[in-house]
Amino acid sequence: MRIHQYEKIWIVGAMILIVGFIVTITYGSVGLGITMIGDEEETIAPDELNDDEQFGEPRVEQVGENEYAAYVVAQTFIFQPDPIEIPANNEITFHVTSRDVIHGFYVPGTNINAMAIPGQVAKLTVEFDEPGEYGLICHEYCGSAHHTMEGLIVVQPEDEFDLTELSAETPDTVAPGDEVQLNATVENGQLEPLETTVNAEIGGQTFQRDVTVDGNSSQNVTFTVESDQLGEGEYDWSVSVDDYEETGSVEVVPNGTAETEGGEGP
Ligand code: CUA
Repeated sequence: MRIHQYEKIWIVGAMILIVGFIVTITYGSVGLGITMIGDEEETIAPDELNDDEQFGEPRVEQVGENEYAAYVVAQTFIFQPDPIEIPANNEITFHVTSRDVIHGFYVPGTNINAMAIPGQVAKLTVEFDEPGEYGLICHEYCGSAHHTMEGLIVVQPEDEFDLTELSAETPDTVAPGDEVQLNATVENGQLEPLETTVNAEIGGQTFQRDVTVDGNSSQNVTFTVESDQLGEGEYDWSVSVDDYEETGSVEVVPNGTAETEGGEGP
């Protein structure tokens, strides 16, 4: 069979085009790593968010060396947590879901752009090189106050970032002769152990305690003062760890007027 010269050229040209189409489509769907939210992606019932291990308390967690996960809940008309504090030069994976309607999760000037869909978890991994504050806006119409729905991402220099939390308490009142106990808890949300010093002051008396808090755990520290050394009156107390401080006051009251601890009924 004799095929005309021009026909051969067209046949070859058409073949090249067909192969070209197949290659670009394959590359576009597989090679670029673009993923859509599909059936196999994480899902979560919006009304069960409060019971969820991660979204029950939206927060930033360290998940590996130089890797963090940020669990973010969008709802009318706020983002939680707010601000979202993360370290620079680390891989951050945002897990974003919605408690109610569809919201947007968009950081202008970056490629951070996702939809927060109730029932689904959008995942995106980014790294911020520049410390600073980045505005976060909802760019999906979600209701009457949609235009006010915004959050903040605070990128801290890597060496200043921590996931330390301090809480402290004393009873409101203490009877003479009893001890004034100041209970402090230092929480370390990072994987590396935290070696630090807890400083405390109760009514002018100062204390210092070195602590090592294991990764992803917390440690209690108790400071005590004899109320007889203080005498009746109201005393301020404070506890600090690194840049964190908690303050309050405790009152030493005459015998018989102190509130009973433990909350046993009359
Ligand atoms: Cu949320 Cu618009």
